[in-house]
Amino acid sequence: MKNTFYVTTPIYYPSGRFHIGTAYTTVLADTMKRYHILKGQDSYMLTGTDEHGQKIEEKAKEAGETPKEYVDKMAKMAKELWHKMDISYDDFIQTTEERHEVVVQKIFDRFMEQGDIYKGEYEGWYCVPCETFFTQTQLVDGKCPDCGRDVKLMKEEAYFFNMKKYADRLLQYYEEHPDFIKPEYRKNEMINNFIKPGLEDLCVTRTSFDWGIKVLKDPKHVIYVWVDALTNYITALGYLSEDDTLFKKYWPADLQIVGKDIARFHLIYWPIFLMALDLPLPKTILVHNWITMKDGKMSKSKGNVIYPESLIERYGLDAVRYFLLREMPVGQDGIFSPEAFVERYNYDLCNDLSNLLNRTVSMVNKYFDGIITGYNGTPNLVDEELEKYAIEQIEAFEGKWQNYEIANAIQEIWNLVARTNKYIDETMPWTLAKEEKTEELKSVMYHLIENLRKIAIMIKPFMNETADNILHQIGIENNEQKVWNSLQEYDKIQNIKVIEKGQPIFMRLNVADEVEYIKGLMKK
Ligand code: MSP
Repeated sequence: MKNTFYVTTPIYYPSGRFHIGTAYTTVLADTMKRYHILKGQDSYMLTGTDEHGQKIEEKAKEAGETPKEYVDKMAKMAKELWHKMDISYDDFIQTTEERHEVVVQKIFDRFMEQGDIYKGEYEGWYCVPCETFFTQTQLVDGKCPDCGRDVKLMKEEAYFFNMKKYADRLLQYYEEHPDFIKPEYRKNEMINNFIKPGLEDLCVTRTSFDWGIKVLKDPKHVIYVWVDALTNYITALGYLSEDDTLFKKYWPADLQIVGKDIARFHLIYWPIFLMALDLPLPKTILVHNWITMKDGKMSKSKGNVIYPESLIERYGLDAVRYFLLREMPVGQDGIFSPEAFVERYNYDLCNDLSNLLNRTVSMVNKYFDGIITGYNGTPNLVDEELEKYAIEQIEAFEGKWQNYEIANAIQEIWNLVARTNKYIDETMPWTLAKEEKTEELKSVMYHLIENLRKIAIMIKPFMNETADNILHQIGIENNEQKVWNSLQEYDKIQNIKVIEKGQPIFMRLNVADEVEYIKGLMKK
């Protein structure tokens, strides 16, 4: 296995505040990075901001700022949010940075020289807020099919990328690389909806506005948008620059994560651009669905937007990250509702996880003065079965996780949490204590601690602080017992001391109060 892992998130339109939906991609990318680090791999994560286009030009004007001032402010806000969400990105690229712009120009030139890009005329219905041209048939009641707003008919000289030339190669690539697109049904969508009906050439420049990277050989054109936006994944690594060490080390990316709305651009145009540059394609592009509300898409006008900062402030970062990843099924949108959030908090985090920790720490204190001396085998059949179950769950987790079925993989961890709670009821340590069955009691305490250690390691990629907190409370200090490779072990813990007074990691919420509170946040 290649010992590096490069993961990217799409860069954002600097559109002001980011709601919890737009944070999803980046939280997931960060989680994947942390998982690979725990596995001992060198891992690199890229994110950033997508900063060109007419919409930005207009917004900056409204704000009385230059476009550059405007996008720098937005990039700063994005960085502040990622800081709050503990996103451990290695590089943040703004598409207005010189390191990006000069390389985009070189790439565009090369496409022109190769004959991949030709000059033509573009006519279409243009939606300014969505920055997209539509054909007549794509319009819905004469309006933008995406946002429902007015569109205007525009015609202009433009350059086009000859996508048709690469269509067969792309289909063959899909065929030969089953891991390229996850989940698989997205591949069929691309083939049936876009490639089979005949791939249209892509308009790659505009003359109707100025805020973009100029075509060197024809500067009245600005490059727009996908040759600019998509290539950030390689310009950030120094492709075609004086120092391309990172590019050599990390490209091709192992994983690129995108939302369903930009699947087409990443699954068709991006691979074709890379083919035209003779570069290898990313190993996997993962397309996720959306976090929506019960009444559909989040939007300010509907008054149903929820921002990550306000949830984090009240419930803590780990609860928010847990909810986001846990609530997004494969192949369907994940729904945010105040009720679902509070329920997950109370059941999964408080009743299941936090209580397991509390019960364990207090019993180890009560029966053995807080000390676990070491593994003494499995005097009970139940202990043996529990060990087997834990190892199976770890395997089930890995299988699903590596297939990017994130929510299902997390469910496997919570199955282990539930099974471990049940184990307490089955073994009844209080009875073992009364009957002075010390060996059995020791073994039960050992198994509880060992399972908690495993659970903490498995949640660490997405609940970093909680994981450390659990490991601290159960007295695991040896770093070798905090890494992924130690998950299969069941007998290595020795002479640990749990903390004297356990601290609940999640406290039960009052359902009615908190549902009201979150509803209040949505109106702000
Ligand atoms: N700037 C472009 C991407 C350029 S790619 C080179 C863009 N930006 S965005 O801010 O609109 O979206 C950023 C990411 O957030 C995208 O992956 C998008 O799919 C995702 N999401 C936006 N709203 C979302 C939800 N409600 N739920 C989950 N993901 C969502 O697209």
